[in-house]
Amino acid sequence: GKVAVLLGGTAAEREISLKSGQAVLDALLRSGVDAHPLDPDGEVLSRLRAGAYDRAFIVLHGRGGEDGQIQGALETIGLPYTGAGVLGSALGMDKYRCKLLWAGRGLPTADFVLLRGADDLPAAAELGFPLMIKPVHEGSSIGMARVECREALEQAWRNAAEFDALVLAERWIQGAEYTCAILGHEALPLIRLETPHAFYDFEAKYRADSTLYHCPCGLPEGEEARLRQLALDAFDAVGASGWGRVDFMVDADGRPFLLEINTVPGMTDHSLVPMAARVAGIDFDTLVWRILETSL
Ligand code: DAL
Ligand code: MG
Repeated sequence: GKVAVLLGGTAAEREISLKSGQAVLDALLRSGVDAHPLDPDGEVLSRLRAGAYDRAFIVLHGRGGEDGQIQGALETIGLPYTGAGVLGSALGMDKYRCKLLWAGRGLPTADFVLLRGADDLPAAAELGFPLMIKPVHEGSSIGMARVECREALEQAWRNAAEFDALVLAERWIQGAEYTCAILGHEALPLIRLETPHAFYDFEAKYRADSTLYHCPCGLPEGEEARLRQLALDAFDAVGASGWGRVDFMVDADGRPFLLEINTVPGMTDHSLVPMAARVAGIDFDTLVWRILETSL
């Protein structure tokens, strides 16, 4: 069949999506798939219909492409697509409501306060410092900051609020950051991230040579299995499916705290899902093929 690789889009993560999308497109072409890049605009549905595509491979990061919008549009024209459906995508893009759902299911996540305006800053300060400030609906650490003291809080909130009307303040978890790639119903080997930066920020994600990726992550087998199951539970709790990535911290006492999920995680050559897949014996082209199968 003919596959449209949806890439680019209008979100702040556009540049990352173009890279992820190109890598996916190249892999599909190597596998002999009749794949075509498509950068969605207001005409995307008529272009998809005119192109007589059989399915869509969504490689859009952020709002508009990872949050249920394009998924809903594809549902209305009956075009199968990769990854999570409308609900799982929408919730996965909403860091605040993810945390509410996890807390409701008894899954561990750091204490948090939603900042709708400056009036909410005192409640955030009560979480204690350092704390993380994050736009609720962003990715790739865009607009995020680690705040060390009360004096720096308002500026960090103002900066995040430029990206999103809703901002999350979250207690900082001192420990190690891990991520778990999910493919189908399977959790892939954990990756432990190590960065000299204050946190795993945009630079550390895409530019820095100083970021270290440990996969296998070095945890005892039973511990890793427990955390992989947590990732699957966290993914399922918000209705996500197909493939994705769950990010979390583990503190010095070995207690995990869920950070967020990504229903269209990065697929660039620096990205984490391809790294974990490789350790699981799944090369990039096979990974892309298996993600395509999630559209069936
Ligand atoms: N939001 C970026 C693309 C990621 O999670 O990989
Ligand atoms: Mg994300």
